[in-house]
Amino acid sequence: MKQITALSKLDLGDCLNLIKQLPDKSIDLILTDPPYNLGLFMHKRGTNIKGMRNNHFAYSGWDNLEFSQWTLVMKEFLLQCARVLKSKGSLIMFMSIIKVETIINLALNAGLYYKTVGIWHKTNPMPRNMNLHFINSTEPWLYFINDGHTGTFNNEGKPIHDYIETSTISSSEHKLGNHPTQKPKALLTHFIKLLSNENDVILDPFMGSGSTGVVCELLNRKFIGFELNEEYYNIARNRIKDKK
Ligand SMILES: C[S@@+](CC[C@H](N)C(=O)[O-])C[C@H]1O[C@@H](n2cnc3c(N)ncnc32)[C@H](O)[C@@H]1O
Repeated sequence: MKQITALSKLDLGDCLNLIKQLPDKSIDLILTDPPYNLGLFMHKRGTNIKGMRNNHFAYSGWDNLEFSQWTLVMKEFLLQCARVLKSKGSLIMFMSIIKVETIINLALNAGLYYKTVGIWHKTNPMPRNMNLHFINSTEPWLYFINDGHTGTFNNEGKPIHDYIETSTISSSEHKLGNHPTQKPKALLTHFIKLLSNENDVILDPFMGSGSTGVVCELLNRKFIGFELNEEYYNIARNRIKDKK
């Protein structure tokens, strides 16, 4: 791993290998956005994604595993999450709605405690084909605790609902990461403030353009990030250095 800033360490490669180098019980929070296993599903439906938008995840090449292979990757990944998370450490994972049950079952088998499925509601999604069907405006997230039933939860006495609303990523923020599934900083800020404290260690093993790392820098959390794709890795490194 390379120390990129005083707070952040990154590595380029397959997170299933890289995570094995992390010591047991060394991470306070895993906040991650892995491939949703939707690439082949969308190809098989023949959706004209290229016509809809350039730089679409379904043609990015990193979400093309068959369901059975993807399940094996997620199984191994969740076993490693249970190993590296501290006692009462938290895991937040974004996921496609049709894979939520699979992930919950794999996480339970890995020994994680299931807490919540929540929703991220995008307030200004593209109104694509709005006269034909419901506009796609939500993505689920899953919340687990390792080795305990509750972890850090900085709600400051306020009720926190199991959904969060933000706008989709602005074009100025998207320019910084240029990733097809880049998450807005506002969304990640919500989880990092709530589920971790300053100087905690946060891991994003599928970091893409490094959005989780940027927010960790801004909120004074230590960050460890892995990414398989060299182009995204370089973007993440620069964004994290620039805190943008
Ligand atoms: C859904 S995207 C994450 C986007 C990120 N949240 C952002 O804001 O930019 C998933 C990322 O995981 C990477 N990836 C896929 N398989 C991986 C693996 N085995 N190890 C490390 N990274 C992987 C992909 O290259 C992709 O950039």
